[in-house]
Amino acid sequence: MVDPAGRIVARLRRPTSAGDPDKLRAQVVEVAAGLAAQHPVTAVGIGAAGWIDAGRSVVRYGPHLPWRDEPLRDAVAAAVGLPVVVENDANVAAWAEYRFGACAAADPGATMVMVTVGTGVGGGIVLGGRLYRGAQGIAAELGHVRVVPDGRPCPCGRRGCLERYASGTALVEAARAGARADPAAAADLLRRAGGDPAAVSGPMVTAAAGAGDPVARAAFAEIGGWLGAACADWTQILDPHTFVVGGGVADAGELLLAPARAAYAEQLGRRGRYPAATVTAAVRGNDAGVVGAADLARGG
Ligand code: BGC
Ligand code: NA
Ligand code: ZN
Repeated sequence: MVDPAGRIVARLRRPTSAGDPDKLRAQVVEVAAGLAAQHPVTAVGIGAAGWIDAGRSVVRYGPHLPWRDEPLRDAVAAAVGLPVVVENDANVAAWAEYRFGACAAADPGATMVMVTVGTGVGGGIVLGGRLYRGAQGIAAELGHVRVVPDGRPCPCGRRGCLERYASGTALVEAARAGARADPAAAADLLRRAGGDPAAVSGPMVTAAAGAGDPVARAAFAEIGGWLGAACADWTQILDPHTFVVGGGVADAGELLLAPARAAYAEQLGRRGRYPAATVTAAVRGNDAGVVGAADLARGG
């Protein structure tokens, strides 16, 4: 439940039933109906991790969720009796950062790009003050641009997508590989994982990197490097004033942002003749999705 100023006034939270589309839909309905029963809710906004159709109604495909042509808007609208808007999870986060977060002070016609780094890599583009959705609704799938020809396979069906190199999943893979290659250097990280590289998790990598573990830091440098290089490419197309980096992994702050900025500056080119965009951390954290979805549903 979000007020017009982008403040969260009530919450209901459920762990995602990621394996079962019917349960997942029922959970979304339960949360929306539960809040609407207790508060004067006027509309429901949903940020869904996947490719949403142009009508902001159907989740066509979720690379990391069981949704396949899921008619989410109509199912939730029928169950709760309110207008519903379904939008991509990174798009809604971008909207929240633009309206109420990292870019709240930017001029109203500004162009910003949001990148969310989590299980996958998501993107959102606010172009001239409006959320850019493209012809089919699936613009700004920034995680699925190819950065390595014939590279790592991706659940989207391609190979070499950015998210295979710059996501939280990639972070953990890089740290595990580093720990296997040089267990002595990764002593701190391995201690947190009970000595088993396969037990290394994202929060462990962040904690170990914060404590100075060189293998964990190198894993952040690796994914940050991919991210910064990608921002340089997007600058050539969109020339945004700001890149906002969010998602769970961005909670690591400068561990991720410093190598991203360095790679961005190095890859930007332009012979020093064009100003670079600012690369900054999201400020609404995990709330961004909820806040942006609500504002869009309200007609923001
Ligand atoms: C999906 C996007 C989503 C992102 C972050 C990607 O794999 O294709 O739709 O925004 O993950 O959840
Ligand atoms: Na998106
Ligand atoms: Zn992909």
